[in-house]
Amino acid sequence: MKKVIVTGGAGFIGSHTVVELVNAGYEPIILDNFSNSDERIIKQLEQLLDQEIEVHNIDCTKEQQLARFFLLEGNIHGIIHFAAHKAVGESVKDPLKYYRNNLISLMNLIKLMKESEVKNLVFSSSCTVYGEPDTTVVTEKSPRKEAASPYGNTKRISEDIIIDSSIAGDLSAAVLRYFNPIGAHPSGLIGELPLGVPNNLVPYLTQVAAGQRECLTIFGDDYDTPDGTCIRDYIHVVDLAKAHVNALQWLEKNPGACDTFNIGTGNGHSVLELVNSFEKVNDISLNRTIGEKRPGDVSAIYADSEKAEQILNWQAELSMADALKDAWTWQTYLKNNW
Ligand code: UD1
Repeated sequence: MKKVIVTGGAGFIGSHTVVELVNAGYEPIILDNFSNSDERIIKQLEQLLDQEIEVHNIDCTKEQQLARFFLLEGNIHGIIHFAAHKAVGESVKDPLKYYRNNLISLMNLIKLMKESEVKNLVFSSSCTVYGEPDTTVVTEKSPRKEAASPYGNTKRISEDIIIDSSIAGDLSAAVLRYFNPIGAHPSGLIGELPLGVPNNLVPYLTQVAAGQRECLTIFGDDYDTPDGTCIRDYIHVVDLAKAHVNALQWLEKNPGACDTFNIGTGNGHSVLELVNSFEKVNDISLNRTIGEKRPGDVSAIYADSEKAEQILNWQAELSMADALKDAWTWQTYLKNNW
């Protein structure tokens, strides 16, 4: 079986990708330092998959730890690199934490990939690289704008590091620009586990629905959109996870390739639409209020995912309603079992 290293494999998108790798016949090996994830997710994964998963507690910024792992493991087919800090607000307050962690881990990996002749890299980038876009629908050719946060800047710089390394012949890479990942595995056994107060809409909303938080504040209702609230492209995390498998298969067929792909549904939904849909599919009434705009939020952005469809043979299959149902199943599981 082909061994695929999943850094940050205990995290939200990483854990769902581990499931899809197993489903596709790969052998995922998780590297995680559990700085923003919970070790119990591994047990959940093993229950879901009915098999053991190899896990190493490794911090990718520690080059020696990583080098030892590469040496002992051998025969690595590819790497899917998720391990990174991702809180936009925290990155503004502590930029060095973000530059150090997100960039050094990537550079360590690329150096060791080169030394060990591991060719395939799938990297998690973000639609944040488009900044405040000129058009609501963005293609991969849309210009990257100045980053609105150090977090966003680490994604932009990471993309450049990967492209330059591929030009130097060090690796083949698929850079995936995620739109807004939401939802959870339909089994209800894995999902998002935010530490502290969630920054993102769906985990905050499910905690309000569960009675853990009082009220959802919708950040602004006077944007230049049909209902005045921001528009995003919400993608089910299982669809997103599958895109990584397709990207890996594309790299296998195209040695030396390096390309960037939007991973979204191609549909925009407003915050109000999402909240109303959550209430409807789960038959729950949410306590909510309209608040101030959140600084740095763009009014509307969604993906043109045509390129991923054409080249990676990937397309989102699940709806926003599916994702909101699965997110609530997970939140309910947490409430009863965690
Ligand atoms: C952010 C990041 C993105 C990252 C994504 C997932 C930026 C600009 N965006 O996206 O890079 O991939 O998180 O981690 O860096 N909202 C509310 N109330 C809340 C929370 C959010 O109304 O309590 C609204 C926001 O104003 C926004 C929408 O919900 O319009 C989605 O917000 P969020 O889930 O935080 O994601 P983004 O900011 O789009």
